[in-house]
Amino acid sequence: MAPIQTICVCGAGTMGSGIAQVSAAAGFSTILFDVNETMLEKSKASIEKNLLKLSERGKLPPDEVNKILDRMLFTASIDHCRADLIIEAIIEEREAKATLFRQLAAINQYDCILATNTSSIPVSEVATTIPVPARFAGMHFFNPAPLMKLVEVVRGKQTSEETINQLLTVSKQMDKTPVVCKDAPGFIVNRVARHYYLEAMRLVETGKADIATVDSIMEASGFKMGPFRLMDLIGMDINYNVSRIVWEALGKPERLHPSPLQKSKVDAGELGRKTGKGFYEYI
Ligand SMILES: NC(=O)c1ccc[n+]([C@@H]2O[C@H](COP(=O)([O-])OP(=O)(O)OC[C@H]3O[C@@H](n4cnc5c(N)ncnc54)[C@H](O)[C@@H]3O)[C@@H](O)[C@H]2O)c1
Repeated sequence: MAPIQTICVCGAGTMGSGIAQVSAAAGFSTILFDVNETMLEKSKASIEKNLLKLSERGKLPPDEVNKILDRMLFTASIDHCRADLIIEAIIEEREAKATLFRQLAAINQYDCILATNTSSIPVSEVATTIPVPARFAGMHFFNPAPLMKLVEVVRGKQTSEETINQLLTVSKQMDKTPVVCKDAPGFIVNRVARHYYLEAMRLVETGKADIATVDSIMEASGFKMGPFRLMDLIGMDINYNVSRIVWEALGKPERLHPSPLQKSKVDAGELGRKTGKGFYEYI
């Protein structure tokens, strides 16, 4: 099996930007594609800032900053999305992902690996939309991608062993800790974590506690981030869609019912850090 040399990341938002940074820092020639030019500009500025910060702290040799940036291409043209491995990190919507994968499969070699960073959409389902489902899998990074070590490598029904092995190798080259997961709703982390968010919002919805109290208590009890601060970091739209998809996939159990409080935030466009306001305000 030929080693992966070029990685294309689709979607320059919260996750895609971080994944592209990790990819270029690991030495891969990296293409970052987004339909939105503003997101590409923001992503480039944020990657540059992150790398300079690492260099100032002595965690990256100063001459590495430009070497990493030189390995990156920021583009709004899908024609540039030709690579050995493509990691999709666009909006959490089934049809948008399926459409993009069909376009990507049409312009890439049959042996290109297509991976999705979806948090909740069944990998096997998206795989049916492309010609070589054996080369399709989940590659689920965590937020913020440059810092979080875990990657869930999700095996779809038709994913080949070779594809899994290549994704394990690439993850390790990126200095990540990959774990192979089954294609179950929410995989492992998002399935377990659903209750962290939903029960916190239920406490607030029923007037049993306020947002700041829940966050500070959970942080004092040992969690790195309280549920509301974490939802603001993740993005309200993404987190709400993951809840909805996991709830539907498991037969709509009441315990996993998506939160009306969160839906009201999505409807108001208060998506968290990325829009400057979510449960908290960010100036
Ligand atoms: N936010 C998290 O904490 C987190 C963690 C793990 C996985 N994920 C998953 O990663 C994916 C991306 O999440 P995010 O938080 O980065 O979203 P985001 O909203 O921050 O960014 C999505 C980006 O995709 C772009 N986009 C939309 N449609 C596109 C298309 N057809 N082609 C190219 N670009 C397109 C948008 O312009 C935007 O820049 C989702 O599937 C999500 O479930 C998110």
